[in-house]
Amino acid sequence: MIELGVNIDHVATVRQARKTYEPDPVIAAALAEQGGADGITFHLREDRRHIQDRDAELLIQTVQVRTNLEIACAQEVVSIACGLKPDWALLVPESRQEVTTEGGLDVAGDSGGVADAIKQLQDQGILVSLFVDPDARQIEAAANLGVEAVELHTGPYALAKGDAQIEQLARLSESGKATTAAGMRLHAGHGLNYANVRPVAGIPNMAELNIGHSIVSRAVMVGMREAVAEMRRILDLF
Ligand code: PXP
Repeated sequence: MIELGVNIDHVATVRQARKTYEPDPVIAAALAEQGGADGITFHLREDRRHIQDRDAELLIQTVQVRTNLEIACAQEVVSIACGLKPDWALLVPESRQEVTTEGGLDVAGDSGGVADAIKQLQDQGILVSLFVDPDARQIEAAANLGVEAVELHTGPYALAKGDAQIEQLARLSESGKATTAAGMRLHAGHGLNYANVRPVAGIPNMAELNIGHSIVSRAVMVGMREAVAEMRRILDLF
């Protein structure tokens, strides 16, 4: 069974647009669990544009499925993660100008920052996943760093059309093979939606997909529980 991680950041994005108390990502997480989420993912960005420290604390206390805290390799948020002890930490690159996470981590070119963050997190018993582009060098570097999982960046696949999309899917499949051959769990995410998720779900040994924007968008129309259940039904076909 492919596990579904529901990213609830954009519930907080709507709240922060008015700097008020609603909608609450903590309530959204509970409803996502009822809809069949296997995990709840939330990104505590350094600029706190959506998820706030209070959200992260309450989510860790209340979420019953596994928690996946997405962070940059920056000491402030790594220390917070070490204190909160989510089940998983998902390390991503971060830049203030980006609208959303743009590319994978350059693990192959790491000068120590990624390795140091991994060590601090693993020392606290937190499982670590690295968000990387589907590139053999990055997968090999991730394996050398001893992480438990790799999350392949599906953004370019999601944006591509026709033959270019088939090419992106082939890159994801190849990288998926390399990931599991190196003994790491295979995750993927970014830009996945109800229309484009099937080919990615069909990649052999896919263990987990992390999906946010599309599910939260659908939730505005049909409610969080139903939006998650609709995605869960698609993944149940694989
Ligand atoms: N995985 C990572 C590493 C991300 O940064 C995001 C976006 O926050 C997602 C998955 C989910 O992407 P989307 O919101 O496009 O579904």
